[in-house]
Amino acid sequence: MAGLRSRNISVSEASRPVLPRHARLKFDETRQVWVILAPERVLAPDEIAVEVLQLCDGVRSVEAMIDQLAAKYSDPGDGLAVLEQRGSTAETFGIPLAVLAELTHRCPLQCPYCSNPVELERGGSELTTEEWKKVLTELAQIGVLQIHFSGGEPTARKDLVELVQHASDVGLYSNLITSAVLLTREKLSALADAGLCHVQISFQGNEPVVADRVAGFKHAHQKKIEVARWTRELDLPLTVNAVMHRQNLFQLPDIIQMAVDLDADRLEVANVQYYGWALKNRAALMPTLEQIEEASRIVEEAQARLKGILAIDYVVPDYYALRPKKCMGGWGRQFFNISPAGKILPCHAAETITGLEFLSVRSNHSIAWIWQNSEAFNRYRGTGWMPEPCRSCEFKEIDFGGCRCQAFALTGNAGNTDPACTLSPRHEQIFKQAESEAAANNNRLIYRNFSGGTLETGGDYGA
Ligand code: SF4
Ligand code: FES
Repeated sequence: MAGLRSRNISVSEASRPVLPRHARLKFDETRQVWVILAPERVLAPDEIAVEVLQLCDGVRSVEAMIDQLAAKYSDPGDGLAVLEQRGSTAETFGIPLAVLAELTHRCPLQCPYCSNPVELERGGSELTTEEWKKVLTELAQIGVLQIHFSGGEPTARKDLVELVQHASDVGLYSNLITSAVLLTREKLSALADAGLCHVQISFQGNEPVVADRVAGFKHAHQKKIEVARWTRELDLPLTVNAVMHRQNLFQLPDIIQMAVDLDADRLEVANVQYYGWALKNRAALMPTLEQIEEASRIVEEAQARLKGILAIDYVVPDYYALRPKKCMGGWGRQFFNISPAGKILPCHAAETITGLEFLSVRSNHSIAWIWQNSEAFNRYRGTGWMPEPCRSCEFKEIDFGGCRCQAFALTGNAGNTDPACTLSPRHEQIFKQAESEAAANNNRLIYRNFSGGTLETGGDYGA
């Protein structure tokens, strides 16, 4: 492991600990509990941990902290009281802890698995700067703690620095999810000054030939590498997001090494989920079972080898899983996102489901009302809506029947069991279909864009 810097730390009595820049200790007024805000995570430390963390200011030594705590808790009764108050948890909240703000669907990249709906919202319908600011204020007031600025490409919005600044002003922890190709060093620096807490950059491969082809954008890869370096130079924490599929899975070991070389904190190895644009491209993107087995082995080995250096999250593709994923943590349970035009959605793909009406922040209703009371959020909440086999299944409170968008895309009814589940009557059929698509040699991509998609030209990409 020579040459790699480790994130493992050792502490002595002389150490002067301080929380890293990307972690914020904050009292959550809505839930009356202390939380630590970190990239993609909200942690709820117990009261003893909070006492200790409040003393981690980079000035006090561990020895001084011990003395201070010993003096405060010299009465054993106090110590017991603190212990009895342990166990606060961040899981029992109504309003989500984190919200995804899709600022725009505009994007210079054309990724064939884009999670935006096939019917993209045009620039003219986007919320204005003042509307977004009002939304951010309202989110903070109702108890949201983190905001993920996403798109499309969020840096296509000229007001991004202003929005990040506003998020900071109202106390939101902000995360930028970006393709990076529009960023300059000056812009990134301005975002950091405005209080941006974390940057996530998507990569389509580990070198330009594959990566630029998949992105449908020349020189994208080189630009991403450059921006990732600036991110770390500015001391912002970095997550590398790598969406994997048949066209790039062979690069997985190199992508992991690239994330280490870029000094990323986290790597998300996300296999494509097939709805929207990705469903259009399923034949070209679907991996083989052998590829997935090999990828799982590579990730497992890397997770062990890089412990303390790089955290690796891995999402297995549904088609090869036994049980579906607990999509969005369950419909209307832990998450919502806001579309460029202000619609409040239970997930980024929800608009692919026809027959549901999604209310907007421009309606007469508050965001909290829409979350709690709107028909779209309540249609598939909990377990009461479930058909068999979910209704009498022991896993129904664990995966909540899988993904509604996938159920709709593959069966035409969002209320059906997600066919990714082996207990679904349709599972066998889609698994076989995936196998035969993966085995066929159709590698030609349909690029995502506002004209409904463009078929890849040139090259020798099969049928
Ligand atoms: Fe989950 Fe329904 Fe499958 Fe049971 S039957 S594992 S609840 S999707
Ligand atoms: Fe919409 Fe899974 S993506 S519920």
